[in-house]
Amino acid sequence: MRQIVTTRNGGVDVLRVEEAPDPSPKAGELVIRVRAAGLNFADILARQGLYPDGPPKPCVMGYEVSGVIEAVGKGVHKDLVGRSVVALTRFGGQAEFVAVKDSQIFDKPKSLTFEQAAAIPVNYLTAYALLIVMGSLHKGESVLIHNAGGGVGLAALDIAKKTGAATYGTASQSKHKFLLERGLDYAIDYRSQDWLPVLKEVTNGKGVDLVIDPIGGAHWKKSYEALRHTGRLGMFGVSAASATGLAGKVKLLKAVIQIPWFHPMGLLNKNRGVFGLNLGHLWHEPEKVERWMEEILRGVQKGWINPYVDRVFSFDQVGEAHSYIEGRKNIGKVVLVP
Ligand SMILES: NC(=O)c1ccc[n+]([C@@H]2O[C@H](COP(=O)([O-])OP(=O)(O)OC[C@H]3O[C@@H](n4cnc5c(N)ncnc54)[C@H](OP(=O)(O)O)[C@@H]3O)[C@@H](O)[C@H]2O)c1
Repeated sequence: MRQIVTTRNGGVDVLRVEEAPDPSPKAGELVIRVRAAGLNFADILARQGLYPDGPPKPCVMGYEVSGVIEAVGKGVHKDLVGRSVVALTRFGGQAEFVAVKDSQIFDKPKSLTFEQAAAIPVNYLTAYALLIVMGSLHKGESVLIHNAGGGVGLAALDIAKKTGAATYGTASQSKHKFLLERGLDYAIDYRSQDWLPVLKEVTNGKGVDLVIDPIGGAHWKKSYEALRHTGRLGMFGVSAASATGLAGKVKLLKAVIQIPWFHPMGLLNKNRGVFGLNLGHLWHEPEKVERWMEEILRGVQKGWINPYVDRVFSFDQVGEAHSYIEGRKNIGKVVLVP
């Protein structure tokens, strides 16, 4: 099979498409013939050497795929062969075939293409956990979605709209028209202006009930300032560190140094909550993830979950795909196809 190998830390030139033996399923596993694999910001950070959760290099990244079950191992029902599925993959998804545990697969919704289906797991599970499970977003409340035009951002917008909360989002200016058409109530260009005073002004000085922040470092402190009483801050990424080589290491160090401390008395007196989320640290809680995924897939059926694929790149174009996201050009999901 062909697979995308991140050969070492570096720029997009370290990405190679290489041949490898096809995997065979172990007991309790299935092998999926991959039709589409999601590309996530984590894959970019891993290539840059800034993602501690990634496997040692050389490695094949990829947290999610859609495809067709090709073979099953001992203990897995043979009827599953030929079924179209969407799956979480603990790496290795950016390949023609991948072996996964049977607990990691879900039926692909018939209404979605393979590319759209591959856009669901990471983005929607992350957004669901942030907004519903941990953020407890409710009708009548308000949420600020940072990077609203990204993969997680658009997923969060779908879910926030379903709750009936008011939605504010930060994004590059070029994405605002799209976001407003998709239902975002208010877009802020955080790259050309200071977003916090703008948010305060449009919320009559109050701020919002929930902020989800993947930027990290000092930005988490600023997002905390955007909360009104009983507000919650969900922290889930360090996009601020993104850069290749020494620049990335320096940015990551700066982000770590600038991480705020939240004192219990401050939280108590301001009626605020803070939480973190790392979907990659939930593999030991498959029943939770399964419950959330089932709710998301029901949302596809009912029409309130609409995965948006911006660009589809072939495996051979993987460097272009990485550059597209690093250049902040993507609106929603970038998908790779063999
Ligand atoms: N903790 C978790 O479980 C988890 C799971 C999934 C994702 N994440 C994190 O969530 C964030 C979004 O992930 P995603 O996969 O959905 O990717 P994405 O949103 O598609 O990421 C790309 C977008 O992020 C914005 N961005 C902000 N700072 C950036 C920077 N320094 N360099 C490049 N782009 C930057 C850009 O949009 P604008 O300029 O328009 O804002 C860009 O288009 C990432 O930090 C990722 O690591 C965390």
